[in-house]
Amino acid sequence: MSITILAIESSCDDTSAAVCRDGVILSNPIANQSVHEKYGGVVPELASRAHMQNIVPVVDVALSSANCQLSSVDAIAFTQSPGLIGSLLVGAQFAKSLSLALNKPLIAVHHMQAHVLANLIADEKPAFPFLCLTVSGGHTQIVLCESPTQMKVIGETLDDAAGEAFDKAAKLLGLPYPGGPLIDKYAKAGDADRFKFAEPKIAGLDFSFSGFKTSFLYFLKNAGKSLVYKEEFTAPPEEQQQFIKDNLNDICASLQKSIVTILLSKLKRASVETGIKNICLAGGVSANSSLRNTFLQKGEKYGWKTFIPAFEYCTDNAAMIAITGYYKFLNNQFADLSVVPTARAEW
Ligand code: KG4
Ligand code: ZN
Repeated sequence: MSITILAIESSCDDTSAAVCRDGVILSNPIANQSVHEKYGGVVPELASRAHMQNIVPVVDVALSSANCQLSSVDAIAFTQSPGLIGSLLVGAQFAKSLSLALNKPLIAVHHMQAHVLANLIADEKPAFPFLCLTVSGGHTQIVLCESPTQMKVIGETLDDAAGEAFDKAAKLLGLPYPGGPLIDKYAKAGDADRFKFAEPKIAGLDFSFSGFKTSFLYFLKNAGKSLVYKEEFTAPPEEQQQFIKDNLNDICASLQKSIVTILLSKLKRASVETGIKNICLAGGVSANSSLRNTFLQKGEKYGWKTFIPAFEYCTDNAAMIAITGYYKFLNNQFADLSVVPTARAEW
């Protein structure tokens, strides 16, 4: 019997729907919300309203481009958590209504587990167990994945996520939100060894980016004059602006290199400690070109078998919800119609 899953993702500011048949993604349209750009971050209420406007057309496009009728859908999967509660409510309510109307089962999906399982979309899949470095706007985690339905977090950030470090640094540089992709773009023409930033000293497999962010702030405040990151070295505002303007590419390249180094050194440690050499990347920050390239180079050096989802499955998308829904379907993990979304999630 063939299994067709219709999936809905609305955890933050992207509305997406996908159709997956027997583990193969047939469509994955994503409606981005440009309304947040001028606010320098996602405004939750505006996100919920935009999801309300986008969800019906996005589901229509997902079905029509997959050449799929609603009547041939076997289950509806949706993002239950974590995320912005107002955004999650829109997708959850839509999925529950469809499930009720079509009399088809409902599958509740954990957004971060779905980022990990985006690695099962491609034909060449990682063998279990594998490790996954999941780096997004809200999370930085190392996940040990033993099967599509059994995984645990073995390392995570104690404060800011890697995506937040990119976005907050970009904001200090005067770049619009989300700044991660722009730092990636400017870094391509920059010298990554020109500036150095304080590296966090966190034990074990956990991360911290808040001290790193502070060191970057002081570096800009003293216009790169000193590597002693003290507030008393503050340069006049116009000098700070000129410094950023004259050195933007090098600043972005150096900042990016530092973040990538922090991430990959913990991943190496996780591989050594667990003895696992099947290693994956996931999450929005895995769209970063330096992280992707350095990950592949290090993987070759350390004898890893490396996997990175295709670009469109790294940032938020419903295809990853669909593939997770497919494996939950195979394991009979269905949700009751009384299920509610939650902003925070247990693993
Ligand atoms: O996974 P995602 O789409 O949404 C969350 O669940 O958070 O991740 C979004 C994050 C943002 O912080 C964004 O700046 C970052 O991913 N990002 C990047 C790049 N593309 C997206 N960061 C660095 N370089 C990129 N190319
Ligand atoms: Zn995400």
